[in-house]
Amino acid sequence: MTKLSTKHLLGIKDITANDINLILTTAESFKEVINRPIKKVPSLRDITIANLFFENSTRTKLSFELAEKRLSADVINFSSSSSSVKKGETLIDTVNNILAMKVDMVVMRHPNPGAALFLSKHVNAKIINAGDGAHEHPTQALLDAFSIKEKLGTIKGKKIAIVGDILHSRVALSNIFCLQKLGAEVMVCGPTTLMPKYISSLGVKVEHNLKKALEWCDVANMLRIQLERQDIKFFPSLREYTMLFGLNKELLDSLTKKIVIMHPGPINRGVEITSDVADSDQSIILEQVENGVAVRMAVLFLLAGRA
Ligand code: CP
Repeated sequence: MTKLSTKHLLGIKDITANDINLILTTAESFKEVINRPIKKVPSLRDITIANLFFENSTRTKLSFELAEKRLSADVINFSSSSSSVKKGETLIDTVNNILAMKVDMVVMRHPNPGAALFLSKHVNAKIINAGDGAHEHPTQALLDAFSIKEKLGTIKGKKIAIVGDILHSRVALSNIFCLQKLGAEVMVCGPTTLMPKYISSLGVKVEHNLKKALEWCDVANMLRIQLERQDIKFFPSLREYTMLFGLNKELLDSLTKKIVIMHPGPINRGVEITSDVADSDQSIILEQVENGVAVRMAVLFLLAGRA
């Protein structure tokens, strides 16, 4: 199979295991490319891509831009904080004005869940969701899956614990869909108040004791507390959260086996994870960032239909 079953990448829920495997296999080739002395290939020459970021980003924005440039695409960048959105322009008007400049693909991060789907129904360009509110972050899940496969050889049968603020996390939802489609067992761990009510219907195990979750898993993906999405208090204090759900070296070293530690970033050091764990030899946090470029190259290349 050399083609994706989808025109856009809006979420992992909508794509098949075959699509995911095709992206991961293609990303392996691009990882080899970006480690060559000459890192650029002409695959997307004459394709124009707009990166529209209506919400802050460091990793995803830079990673997409680098992936596009490595593929020789023409790239334009838009950030809502310095745009006419501040003067009241709507999402559709903003995007249609950008598309009038002959743009082929749009990478969009937006605070509203469903924004990428909405755009895909109203404009004639290929849309990649770079994170829509607390809904999905598909390329993060794909790069996480790539990183687990690279580290452990396979995803099928592996036990992955996703720890922290599951309620507000698009990374958690996309990871759950992606890892289950690839045959992993998934557990979520965190305070009851930070679990969505529907969580059991997703077929995941639910645990509220961090030590038990860590003893169960092969990989722990530690999530940030998303204070910017919390309009009420979900736990008494960050100090209490850290005591119950923060991962420190003492806890990591007390486990009966060596597990792999992941984090999508940005890290709040000393809250969900201590520095000595984030920087330890069990952590693959910077490998995740490196793999993000190759995975995004694969997504762009496959959606552009140049395979
Ligand atoms: N992991 C992630 O999405 O990071 P950014 O918010 O910096 O893009």
